Amino acid sequence: MARQNRLLEVENLKTYFHTENGTVPSVDGVSFHVDRGETVAIVGESGSGKSVTSFSIMGLVSPPGKIEAGHIRFDGTELTSLSERKMRKVRGNEIAMIFQEPLTSLNPVFTVGHQISEAILLHQDTKKAEARKQGIAMLKRVGIPRAEQVYQSYPHALSGGMRQRVMIAMALSCNPKMLIADEPTTALDVTIQAQILRLLKKISKEVDTSIILITHDLGVVAELVDRVIVMYAGQIVEQADVYTIFKDPKHPYTQGLLESTPKIHELHDELKSIRGVVPVPTNMPTGCRFHPRCPHAMDICKEKEPMMVDRDGKAQVRCWLYASEKEDVG
Ligand SMILES: Nc1ncnc2c1ncn2[C@@H]1O[C@H](COP(=O)(O)OP(=O)(O)OP(=O)(O)O)[C@@H](O)[C@H]1O
Ligand SMILES: [Mg+2]
Repeated sequence: MARQNRLLEVENLKTYFHTENGTVPSVDGVSFHVDRGETVAIVGESGSGKSVTSFSIMGLVSPPGKIEAGHIRFDGTELTSLSERKMRKVRGNEIAMIFQEPLTSLNPVFTVGHQISEAILLHQDTKKAEARKQGIAMLKRVGIPRAEQVYQSYPHALSGGMRQRVMIAMALSCNPKMLIADEPTTALDVTIQAQILRLLKKISKEVDTSIILITHDLGVVAELVDRVIVMYAGQIVEQADVYTIFKDPKHPYTQGLLESTPKIHELHDELKSIRGVVPVPTNMPTGCRFHPRCPHAMDICKEKEPMMVDRDGKAQVRCWLYASEKEDVG
């Protein structure tokens, strides 16, 4: 892939939380990239470090958390050394983020219209009437019926799905180069989830925005993303294009995630779950962090941390089952 296609490059990122109970290596040597217009999923169980990864990119890590090492290059700019003032500009104009529960991000005392027009006015030198027009157009664009009416509503008067659409409209109002959607649909019912995800897909195509979709549910990403990054206990354990992840998952953790993902057409299949629990972050297992739960664990897995190996240029996997074949790629 040509270099100018790179929008985001995360290199050996380490974000730790220094708590009373010890250091939590929430993100521990994570490297990945996102190209322009690309949609990438970050998946993994609760506590694997997905949100801390996105907070690190957004410059929203605060004490006791700290970016200890690594680089985050966005569109040619190193973000880890940017001043808070400049970072705020990046956040407003270039990278937008939407969260799981829009009610916590929408202000209950202002109308939807007030909030969306404020967002537009913040980024554009334009008149109020024009911001209103744009705001309503944006609401229509994210599939909100009776947009003029919704524009005048307060957030609590809307359904969860509508609120999430409003959040997406606000996020897009600054024309970001990248949108980070952190579990944007987990609070919604299944039908609405599918609608929101389809909307995100449509938008990414229309405006050529790159998307990082964060989810613990591999099932939702299949039709939506180009590439999948699988995280476990603060590390990336596998990354590959979406086709390869579903057809030929390599890491036992990815295989476990897939087996515990319901498939729409196989309702009668019994769902397996991955045995054991995620490790306590202040007390990570030695060797491979997944070994206590892994059905294929060998002696070396308990002793030595596996490195990331490349599989035919198609996939990268951090697992001793494959590690002897080729050398470390990061
Ligand atoms: N403010 C904090 N202080 C201490 N530890 C934290 C803090 N925020 C996150 N962590 C720890 O960092 C680890 C990764 O958390 P993170 O929120 O990134 O997980 P996640 O993959 O987003 O999980 P979920 O699916 O539940 O959202 C967890 O062990 C969590 O306890
Ligand atoms: Mg999270």
